[in-house]
Amino acid sequence: MSVIVLDQTQLSVVLADLSSYRPRSMMMEQMISNTLSERCAWPGIEYVVDNFPGWSVCICRPDGSPASVSRCTDYTVSVFSKTPEALERFLDAPGVVRWDRPVDFFAMQKTDEYDVIRRKCLAINPVLQYDKPANSDVYILELDKISTIPLPAGLRLGELGPQHEQYVRTKWPWGFKTGVKQFLEYVLEPSNGFPNSAIFDRDRPVAHILYTADGSIGLGLVDPDYRGKGLYQIVLYDITKKILNVIRQRVVYGYVFAGNVASARCFERMGGTKLPFLVDWLTSSPAVIHSEQGQ
Ligand SMILES: CC(C)(COP(=O)(O)OP(=O)(O)OC[C@H]1O[C@@H](n2cnc3c(N)ncnc32)[C@H](O)[C@@H]1OP(=O)(O)O)[C@@H](O)C(=O)NCCC(=O)NCCS
Repeated sequence: MSVIVLDQTQLSVVLADLSSYRPRSMMMEQMISNTLSERCAWPGIEYVVDNFPGWSVCICRPDGSPASVSRCTDYTVSVFSKTPEALERFLDAPGVVRWDRPVDFFAMQKTDEYDVIRRKCLAINPVLQYDKPANSDVYILELDKISTIPLPAGLRLGELGPQHEQYVRTKWPWGFKTGVKQFLEYVLEPSNGFPNSAIFDRDRPVAHILYTADGSIGLGLVDPDYRGKGLYQIVLYDITKKILNVIRQRVVYGYVFAGNVASARCFERMGGTKLPFLVDWLTSSPAVIHSEQGQ
């Protein structure tokens, strides 16, 4: 089994192939598209396939260069496979994934693909971190189908900047993970071109949503004192407009934890569409790390 690191020309071929697998391929398509266009291209990532041009599995992983910036954890991978069997074979091949360190499998679709990855992780490291189902729905937002509401008086629409890194991190339930600080510093730096949208009461952010490394929108929040006024809808609409206009992304998508009724309601009320699959995250950590953490 070969492991082929794709060059720009090969990436274009894989990108074109992926369009036949929508909506399942949407996230990988967007990441590759950003890489090729250099608009919101995540630094220090590479794409590997099992074969070329007749590829079946494409994995996005850190390239190990000093340019690499954390995507929430130090070693985050995204996976797209045409069949679970091909994925199983590829993951068994040496040199595809660095199993000697914590590996974060990002927004895995809960199909047979997820089961293959989970089995593989457990075979290598008997304990999985955060191994509770965190099923999320995926919502897409298309500008011609969604609507917004007027901004309540006294509030102002704007953008977060690097000075809000700590604020966003401490409010986000996963902000404790190593790498989140670096990730946020990168996406909040205006010169890196990642859109975000925020509502301010004077200088204080009271609602926000960010564009992130895999082309999704996330880390959304409305301050508890400002809930019930529809502010999330306003920032969701605003960031969708920016993403579609600036990045020319086909559709905007965000993950909503199953059970987060308020968030799901916001996406639905404004005209978002729920995709027909769930996603989940998996973190595989080597045994030595578990024992260091007393797990
Ligand atoms: C999700 C969140 C951003 C929404 O904030 P918001 O803009 O104030 O949302 P609103 O209150 O205007 O709208 C929420 C909708 O869900 C409904 N809702 C809220 N909690 C609900 C519950 N437990 N059961 C049923 N409906 C509920 C509200 O009635 C409202 O629907 P309506 O407009 O039809 O009445 C906010 O609750 C929040 O910050 N939560 C914590 C962080 C989070 O979940 N972020 C999103 C991650 S995807």
